[in-house]
Amino acid sequence: MEKIVSLSKRRGFVFPSSEIYGGLGSSYDYGHYGVLLKNNIKNQWWRAMLQERDDVVALDSAIIQHPRTWEASGHLAGFTDPLIDCRTCKLRFRADHLEQSACGRKPSKHPGETPDCDLTESRDFNLMFETTVGPVKEEGSTVYLRPETAQGIFLNFKNYLQFSRKKPPFGIAQIGKSFRNEITTGNFIFRTREFEQMEMEFFVPPEEAPTWHQHWLEERMKWWTSLGLRPDHVRLRPHDANELSHYSSATSDVEYLFPIGWSELEGIANRGNFDLTQHAKFSGQKLEYVDTATGERYVPHVIEPAAGADRAMLAFLVDAYDEDQIEGEQRTVLRLHPILAPVKVAVLPLVRKDGQPELAAEVYRELRDHVQAEYDEGGAIGRRYRRQDEIGTPWAVTIDHQSLQDRTVTLRDRDSLAQVRVAIGELVDVIRGRLGEPWRSPKLN
Ligand code: GAP
Repeated sequence: MEKIVSLSKRRGFVFPSSEIYGGLGSSYDYGHYGVLLKNNIKNQWWRAMLQERDDVVALDSAIIQHPRTWEASGHLAGFTDPLIDCRTCKLRFRADHLEQSACGRKPSKHPGETPDCDLTESRDFNLMFETTVGPVKEEGSTVYLRPETAQGIFLNFKNYLQFSRKKPPFGIAQIGKSFRNEITTGNFIFRTREFEQMEMEFFVPPEEAPTWHQHWLEERMKWWTSLGLRPDHVRLRPHDANELSHYSSATSDVEYLFPIGWSELEGIANRGNFDLTQHAKFSGQKLEYVDTATGERYVPHVIEPAAGADRAMLAFLVDAYDEDQIEGEQRTVLRLHPILAPVKVAVLPLVRKDGQPELAAEVYRELRDHVQAEYDEGGAIGRRYRRQDEIGTPWAVTIDHQSLQDRTVTLRDRDSLAQVRVAIGELVDVIRGRLGEPWRSPKLN
């Protein structure tokens, strides 16, 4: 994990937030390559949800919603973690995470393990961030930053029945920020207080819920591995009955083998009719599907695949990180699926003279119309390759002396290091062709 954190900062993927003020725990800023990588992950999620299906539609709902939302959803009463304080070291811990926490005075021990530890009783702590709407803090002005994007989807269910001409089974997908005042954070961007979720609520006739749950378990596992996660590092783990959330009758987590051990990437829950029933009760609105042909009416059940975009990015970074040796020199390389790589192709003149930069700039301008490309002419060619390897760029185009004579360039492959000569006029097609090919992590070899 330390290597990932250091590469992320060095290469402009993720920076600790507010660093000039000493940092703010568990807050991160995404740099240029982090933005590109996370966007690519989110685009692939949209693609799988919207473009490749015709039964899911999109939504972008508000972060601050009517406070009754959280009464109805059960978050106000039940979205809590058990909290313990240590009167000696003044640190706070999650009562159910003591085994993973470190004592403030003796970090090699867990809280409660030293004679000096003086722990309070556990008490419930609500994870929602509270704020006020309007200039005066008065009764009725308290609102919350959403702790999940899902509720915005339930609030819009009625709108979607009316405008989208969809009937169950159909889904509403959303990507957006969620906020949780987590007690224990850490592990880089794995658990933060502000994060992005990619959630989809799939509304189905009640009797079809178990079949659709199975369908989404399979679809989502396929998605993670098709984007390159090594299959032996991803697994599905069904929740035990005592782990289930208050709304869920069955949940399985997609887990990834992070450096911290197997941990959740995505939860895929059967939420039954809990949310629509609760919002109908609290709002007084009918939230049900009525079949106008048969007169049949029911409250749909909901299958929810809910993933974290930041956690996804961490998993892809961890899975891609590799070190090898080239001509006796150590190289760090991100073996990202090309479709996720922040930059697809780097254009590098071999030397900064003899007309090479001019031809390279022409090639770059042609390529960037089609894919995210980068031009770099500064420094030794070996160092420029290393830099691109570290940000996971799958291909590098080098313009050399021969390029000026025959308008061909070398195309270098990040993983195999193979270099082939390609005519400049064919580069776009060659790169597009390679981007469309199935990809398998070389770390599996
Ligand atoms: N609507 C259901 C829901 O929110 P969840 O399991 O609490 O379920 C879904 O969250 C996903 O959101 C998780 O699998 C994880 O990837 C991500 N996530 C949750 N809390 C997070 C946090 N504090 N930091 C980063 N990602 C988080």
